[in-house]
Amino acid sequence: MTTLTIRRPDDWHVHLRDGAMLAAVAPFTARQFARAIVMPNLKTPVTTTALAVAYRERIAAAAPGFTPLMTAYLTDTTDAADLISGATDGVLTAAKLYPANATTNSAAGVTDIARIMPVLEAMAGAGLPLLVHGEVTAGDIDIFDREAVFIDRILSPLVTRLPELRIVLEHITTREAADFVTDAGPNVAATITPHHLHHSRNALFAGGIRPHLYCLPILKRETHRLALRAAATSGSAKFFLGTDSAPHAVDTKEAACGCAGVFNAPFAIESYAAVFDEEAAMDRLEGFASLHGPAFYRLPVNEARVTLERGVTVVPERFGDLVPFHAGETLGWRIAA
Ligand code: DOR
Ligand code: ZN
Repeated sequence: MTTLTIRRPDDWHVHLRDGAMLAAVAPFTARQFARAIVMPNLKTPVTTTALAVAYRERIAAAAPGFTPLMTAYLTDTTDAADLISGATDGVLTAAKLYPANATTNSAAGVTDIARIMPVLEAMAGAGLPLLVHGEVTAGDIDIFDREAVFIDRILSPLVTRLPELRIVLEHITTREAADFVTDAGPNVAATITPHHLHHSRNALFAGGIRPHLYCLPILKRETHRLALRAAATSGSAKFFLGTDSAPHAVDTKEAACGCAGVFNAPFAIESYAAVFDEEAAMDRLEGFASLHGPAFYRLPVNEARVTLERGVTVVPERFGDLVPFHAGETLGWRIAA
């Protein structure tokens, strides 16, 4: 196979930031993706429908023609009525659960899921999906176990309690997560990033510490990477594309206490294509990238097509003050002109 034509893909999990960073990164996402689920963890989080409307306008200005799908950031004091009216009015596509202090700009996140149970019940009733950063934050839990423990302690009981709530377990990183999603009912799905498909935790320390591969949830053992590859290429509609592209300026990555996030937006589809090609599963890329996400979110698939072709994509070392995923490497697929 030397070319592959698929429906135009969407990115079901991306950080577009704000201000100058938004202007710098949004065109990369818009080059490849028709739509994207935009994360709400700005410095001032997008906690209300009104904030989501204003943020959507700033994104539209940065990337004309691209469709941002907005999310609201859940807090202990989220107003369920505002969320539901935001969904009904077509502003909000989902709401995001960040456990407080789990990751970047999550200090205002939820301190205890019990506090938002009425909000989650309202979301279930309204058909508004819940997006989950699935990591516990307890200091006594090893960082490599935080996702698996979250599934046991928080997610599994939630699914039992509210089986009608549609849930996306975001950026899964473990065999436990892939198995949980596979075994759950049809209302539970997951996104998978390119970096978790390409790398195990060894890559974080290959020849020295590699801050540009530090993200949360952190890269795991090889056995988990293989489970993610199997899930992504299985053809199961429960797994779909979500880059979790999370740009941070180089001086905040290469620092004594560096920020978490991999900036993979520039060549995300080429990066996924490399994985699917290695797994001899190019025939399943369209489902993962362009069909399963719309089906879960109950949105139409994109009518436009894009052709990928075998060929050299050279990934630059830098875009301004951002270091992209695969910096300095070449990828074996590219988007045909
Ligand atoms: O690595 C990450 N970066 N994980 C997250 O959950 C948030 C993201 C960010 O916003 O930088
Ligand atoms: Zn994210």
